[in-house]
Amino acid sequence: MVINLMDKVISLCKRRGFIFQSSQIYGGLSNTWDYGPYGVELKNNLKAVWWKSNVYERDDVFGMDSAILMHPKVWEASGHLQNFFDLKSDCKSCRRRFKVADLKDDKSKCPECGGILTEARPFNLMFKTHQGPLEEEGNEIYLRPETAQGMFVNFLNILDTKHPKLPFGLAQIGKAFRNEITPGNFTFRTREFEQMEIEYFVNPEDADRKLEEWIENRFQWYINLGIKKENLRKRPHSKEELAHYAKACSDIEYNFPFGWSELEGIANRTDFDIKQHAEISGRDLRYFDDVKKERFYPYIIEPSGGVDRSVLAFLVDAYTEEEVKGDTRIVLRLNKRLAPIKMAVLPLLKNRPNIVELAKKIAADLKRDFVCVYDDTGAIGKLYRRQDETGTMYCITVDLQSLDDKQVTVRHRDTMQQERVGIDRLKEYLSDKLH
Ligand code: GAP
Repeated sequence: MVINLMDKVISLCKRRGFIFQSSQIYGGLSNTWDYGPYGVELKNNLKAVWWKSNVYERDDVFGMDSAILMHPKVWEASGHLQNFFDLKSDCKSCRRRFKVADLKDDKSKCPECGGILTEARPFNLMFKTHQGPLEEEGNEIYLRPETAQGMFVNFLNILDTKHPKLPFGLAQIGKAFRNEITPGNFTFRTREFEQMEIEYFVNPEDADRKLEEWIENRFQWYINLGIKKENLRKRPHSKEELAHYAKACSDIEYNFPFGWSELEGIANRTDFDIKQHAEISGRDLRYFDDVKKERFYPYIIEPSGGVDRSVLAFLVDAYTEEEVKGDTRIVLRLNKRLAPIKMAVLPLLKNRPNIVELAKKIAADLKRDFVCVYDDTGAIGKLYRRQDETGTMYCITVDLQSLDDKQVTVRHRDTMQQERVGIDRLKEYLSDKLH
């Protein structure tokens, strides 16, 4: 039953063009996914809402977009070269590979075939490649495993250009890469994914309080965007779980069909990264407090979320099936800010040129202000179902009567209620509903 929901969401994603397997015509690249026409809209909306709440609506957080490729010394300073390992074991019989942390009881036996497992060996999760034409030592470079370091190495640039006072933060959204041993659960754990991260620099004595504030802030963000409260929880990390750079961390977890799993981690990274970069680069990265006239390393509070994981959580949470007149209606009850398409204009009769002409005219006009589609490829019932499955907020039907009374029928996704609205006030009506 529970597994079923995941299968249904995956099937809808494929059927309706949210998410496809990467390189599908070649048999697919396992655990790698491409976002289709609806998926990219949903993902872009999610990122835009995150950016708005964390950058535009605050005075103390600035946006950034740093390069994926960084100086190799960054990863020495950050500790990723030395510490970013998972332990892996291989089965000597079936050759399957396991992450030791995932092995439940007997860590010497293969959970699939019962064969003997090799001794646990560390495996660095960073993707290594070479810069330039020669694949030789000294040219090695890494795909970033987190966007965070791009913000730490720009700390000085921000101090020099924006002259911010503590507390202040940097925010960025971008790709990260990890050579995960056991990717899976659709887009939940992949080797290429997107992160939305904030590095919030604070006075060390304020760090504990700011950590709590950010945990609450980020938890509320998901609720405000429509995630059901009962499907979301906070989980503080035990000491053993903490990353090498963290003093404290809490995860925000979602109740996925495959179990409670991390959506976002909010950590107190202390001054670990800034101090390390100062030491390895030889640059003074201390903050100058011009009231106290002293220099010190700020602490960093880091809310770090995954774009792909959030998209998956919002899809699972929004997926609804309901009985309508003996039929099953599938509807994605996505928040209006996330819905990929805000409205669809549908002519009731596609063999009546004047209805089609009017519908196309209305759609063209709405497209100037909203993400709107025009569709005349089926009977109205079928068109409604199609829009429900992709979470379109409103269906606007143009019928014979529209030619006379200059009104259209607006159908609401969640209630299926319909009302007649004058074409001349349609934009204003939709604006009010959507903002
Ligand atoms: N800078 C801190 C950091 O990267 P993390 O807990 O390793 O912390 C942060 O990652 C978020 O990135 C996770 O909460 C998750 O949403 C996302 N994430 C991490 N690894 C991922 C993967 N393999 N696939 C998809 N998302 C991932």
